[in-house]
Order: sequence, then structure tokens, then C-alpha cells
Amino acid sequence: MNAQTPRRVEHQQTDKGYVPVYTTAIVEQPWSSYSKADHRTWATLFERQREVLKGRACREFIDNQERFGMSADAIPRFDDLNEVLAQATGWQLVGVEGLLPELDFFDHLANRRFPVTWWIRKPGQLDYLAEPDLFHDLFGHVPLLLNPVFADYMEAYGRGGVKAHGIGAEALVNLTRLYWYTVEFGLIREEGGLRIYGSGIVSSKGESIHCLESAAPNRIGFDMERIMRTRYRIDTYQKTYFVIDSFEQLMEATRPDFTPIYQRLAAEPSIPAGAVLDGDEVIQRGSGEGWATDGDV
Ligand SMILES: [Fe+2]
Repeated sequence: MNAQTPRRVEHQQTDKGYVPVYTTAIVEQPWSSYSKADHRTWATLFERQREVLKGRACREFIDNQERFGMSADAIPRFDDLNEVLAQATGWQLVGVEGLLPELDFFDHLANRRFPVTWWIRKPGQLDYLAEPDLFHDLFGHVPLLLNPVFADYMEAYGRGGVKAHGIGAEALVNLTRLYWYTVEFGLIREEGGLRIYGSGIVSSKGESIHCLESAAPNRIGFDMERIMRTRYRIDTYQKTYFVIDSFEQLMEATRPDFTPIYQRLAAEPSIPAGAVLDGDEVIQRGSGEGWATDGDV
């Protein structure tokens, strides 16, 4: 990869503080530069998560990882995955350094390009990393891009993001919450019960178990406007998970123009991450055990 210095474009709040975000051109995955330790990290995480996700991740997620031929053997090559993706849904993976400026990220999604961080975490960071790495992006996000409906949802989200960026900061906050509670931390109903589809969950051993089996969190039926008002956690497990019936339900919800929705929501107070409202479809009311008392973002 080129050793050019990326240009700093903005700062972003993370759980570790305010960090500069750099923009870079798309990078080519430096596959031959991955070390043995990098491949081993991938193998360790891959095997561990596949075991944890048995009976916990939705069927599509596991099936699609297999369609891609992802395995513990080696870090997958973006080029190989792109051949499968191009045929299935026309999506394309592009290598990036890490977090992108919001508008760049939305623009990629709107054009059916998914940015994947090229580098993988170090062996001492198996359980927690503040920023996305290759394991989170590739293991967690890429499988569902093979699902035609979910693939369309991601594109619609990107187009919505470009638009929201032009409307203003509050609209972006509303839209980011939707991404957070669906793409990153969503649950879905399957015949056997609740299953995981959110990438932030499937790439975390602890949260994969917590989100389904702990009595602490709320599990509430999907309601887009409710989600757009709901604050979330970046430094602890979620206090609330929202449950969809199907990917079609997600796609349907994004069909209307969001502009009047943002206007309406601007007059409403935000909802704390752990709150349960009268109108909620409560699948499980959380016990709240172990919840931090502040820190919702
Ligand atoms: Fe993510």
C-alpha cells in the first residue's frame, strides 16, 4: 500500500475521545503483506465467532459466509469476494484505511460500494476495538450484501445519507440511529426465535450471547420513527435491541421520503437508550441489570 499521508478532514466522537478522521483514496488490499500473525488473528476470531453464532445468527448470515467461501484458512481476498458479490447483487467491496468522512461513506453505499478496512486488529485486541477493522467489516457486514433485499436497503440507506447530509445535523443523527439499531445491532425473527443480523453483534463474542440470552436488555419490535429518536450506547452492550420480522420490512420502511419525518421528529424529545414506551411492541422488557446510568449518545 502507498505510504502517502492521508488528509485529515474532520473529528469524530468515539468512546475513547475525540479523534481526527482522515480521508484517503480507496486502497488496494495489501493481501501479500498480511503477516502470519494477521492470518492467525482472522482464524482465531473466525472459528470463535462461527461457534458462538450457531443457532444465534440468522440463517442468511451463515449461509452467505459459506457462499463466499469464507473460512478460517486465511484472510479473504476482496477480489475473490467481489466476484461472488458482482454476480449476486452488484455490490463491490473497496479497501479503506478506516473511518471515512460521513458523506464519503454514504456516497459509497449509494453506489453499492462497501468500504472495508484493510487492516486487522492485533492479537491483544481480540475482544474489543473502538474502531472498525477488517474482521468487523468483512466477517460482520459483508455476508448480508449477498441478500438482494438487504443489499437494496444498504443502497437506500446510502442515498438517504447523502440527502440527510444536505438537510442538516439533526437529520443525520436520526438516520445514524437507524443504521445503528438495524445494520449494526439488529435482531430478526426466525422460526426458531430471535436471531442476530447486526454486524456489531456478530463480530462480538460477548454481545452475541448478551443480546439474545441476557435478561438485562429490552427487545422491542421494529418501529422506524421510534428508532430514529432513540439514543444508543457506544461503550457498553446495547440497552435495547430492535427486532425486525424480515429484511423486506426494513426495505419497506425506507421507501417514504424521510424529509417530513425529520421535520416531525425535530419537535420530539430523544428517547433514552433503555426506555420502554407505551406504544412499544415489547418482546422482552429488560431488567436493566448492570446498566450504566449515563453515557447514551
Ligand atoms: Fe460496522
